Amino acid sequence: MATQIRLLLVEDVPQVAQYVRQLLDTQSQIKLVDAISDGVKVLAEAERLRPDVIMVDMLLQGKVKAAQLIDQVRGSSLGIPVVVLTVPQQVVARDPEHGIHQVLSMPFSGFELVNVVQAAYAARAEATGEARTRMIAVYAPKGGVGKTTLAFNLAVSIARLGPRTALVDGCLQFGDLRSLLKVPLDAPSIVDLPTDRIGSDDLEDVLWRDPSGIDILLAPARIEMAEMVMVRDVDKAMSMLRRTYRVVVVDLPTSISDVSLAFLDASDTILSVVTYDSTTLRNTAAVADAFRAIGYPPTKIRYVVNRADSSGGLPAEQLESAIGRRPEFGVVSDGRLVVQCNNDGVPFVLTNPDAQVSKDVDTIAEALLVDERLLSASGRR
Ligand SMILES: Nc1ncnc2c1ncn2[C@@H]1O[C@H](COP(=O)(O)OP(=O)(O)OP(=O)(O)O)[C@@H](O)[C@H]1O
Ligand SMILES: [Mg+2]
Repeated sequence: MATQIRLLLVEDVPQVAQYVRQLLDTQSQIKLVDAISDGVKVLAEAERLRPDVIMVDMLLQGKVKAAQLIDQVRGSSLGIPVVVLTVPQQVVARDPEHGIHQVLSMPFSGFELVNVVQAAYAARAEATGEARTRMIAVYAPKGGVGKTTLAFNLAVSIARLGPRTALVDGCLQFGDLRSLLKVPLDAPSIVDLPTDRIGSDDLEDVLWRDPSGIDILLAPARIEMAEMVMVRDVDKAMSMLRRTYRVVVVDLPTSISDVSLAFLDASDTILSVVTYDSTTLRNTAAVADAFRAIGYPPTKIRYVVNRADSSGGLPAEQLESAIGRRPEFGVVSDGRLVVQCNNDGVPFVLTNPDAQVSKDVDTIAEALLVDERLLSASGRR
């Protein structure tokens, strides 16, 4: 499954920075977290933004030149691989021992740029044996279809299979998880993340530890506080969660905003919740088009039909023709159990593991973990 790699560019020639930006605009595998022109600021920014790869122009001018900067990054505890950008007149050799993990010579295409950044990232991930965090966004372009219910139970089901799992309430205005889990009004939220340097301890103070075994980054307690959350806060929260959790599940709102797009971009998988009714189908098809236009590969999106067995719905073929494929998953309707568990703030996958609705959610959890290679296919029950 595609990994979105976070790239920090160090480039003092605005035209080159702009060129890189343009190349990256048309794809979603690499996200440019920032372009910095002054070498002096790079270490502090890298510490703050936690990119996966840093790209440095070999001809960087200013107080801190490229070679010095590469040494600084190598000597720091950041463990971030460096891609050196150079020109044919100045040949630079790949030298991972000395902090030059990949070299990219101008002029280069978008394809070459993506390949080199991915190679630098993959080599480092392999060398350190570092486990990558998989992000799963639960989304629907229609309200009330079961996003929050499924996100919560899916996260608990995943955690039960082994990986340390966090759940993020991405519905910043009307964060449903607060009321679902009956957390106290003063429980901290995403707005309480410290704004400057962040250590892993800071995350501990902000997450809600649910008895179900998952940790939750809540939405703000008050509606007007949602506006305080910016795209950079989302990026920061994700980069912090990546350090501690193997899987992060995000419950997203219906509306698409800069902030929800930041969550969607960062996700490896978008679990799109659909139901058999005509408005959901229409919106789902429209969003599938939008995702295609953004450049998300079709494999990034998985469909789950919630209340798949409920009577009176549209025929399954209509859904298939609207989304252009057969939905990967289905979850049955179980009004009594689901409503009761939601009212009690407990996951049905734990309280009633033998109910069909729980088995259906477990099937999604297992399939996603197998896809993400966090569980072997033979590990399926
Ligand atoms: N499989 C199911 N069987 C029975 N009831 C369900 C099922 N899934 C969800 N529900 C019920 O549907 C209602 C809406 O669910 P939920 O709040 O999870 O949806 P949502 O998509 O998050 O809504 P919103 O758009 O308001 O955030 C809840 O009352 C929930 O109990
Ligand atoms: Mg909800």
